[in-house]
Amino acid sequence: MRIAVGSDHAGYLLKEFLSAHLAELGHDVDDLGTHSERAVDYPEFGAAVGQAVTEGRADLGVCACGTGIGISIAANKIQGVRAAVVHDVTTARLARAHNHANVVCMGGRTVGHEVAKDAIDTFLSTAPIGGRHEQRVEEIAVLETR
Ligand code: RB5
Repeated sequence: MRIAVGSDHAGYLLKEFLSAHLAELGHDVDDLGTHSERAVDYPEFGAAVGQAVTEGRADLGVCACGTGIGISIAANKIQGVRAAVVHDVTTARLARAHNHANVVCMGGRTVGHEVAKDAIDTFLSTAPIGGRHEQRVEEIAVLETR
């Protein structure tokens, strides 16, 4: 799978950890930065990951900032992005199964690396559920035209 990853400085170490894990699993990881713990602003990195997904350069995106919140808000400004902040296996599973999230976001200051690794593994192995969940996701897409 082609996976775009991005973070700010507060998510940098988590991004590095998850990138290495994803590469080890055989995924094609596209690291869109940032590349150090020097302070940067998260919006550009969330947007870059979102655009990689919606432009078809990546199948899914992984983002990290301090909490996962700011970078998810930024990614969600890109039309077609469904970025979800997850904290554990359960939220990762439901973000993918119910919300069809195509970008998963986590907090480098709020989630431990091992928990994050399990959450990513669950996110990647969970299939979106159709039916009423798909219909709701379609309703979200309609909101983008407002
Ligand atoms: C950076 O200090 C921090 O505000 C940022 O990483 C993130 O947590 C914002 O949502």
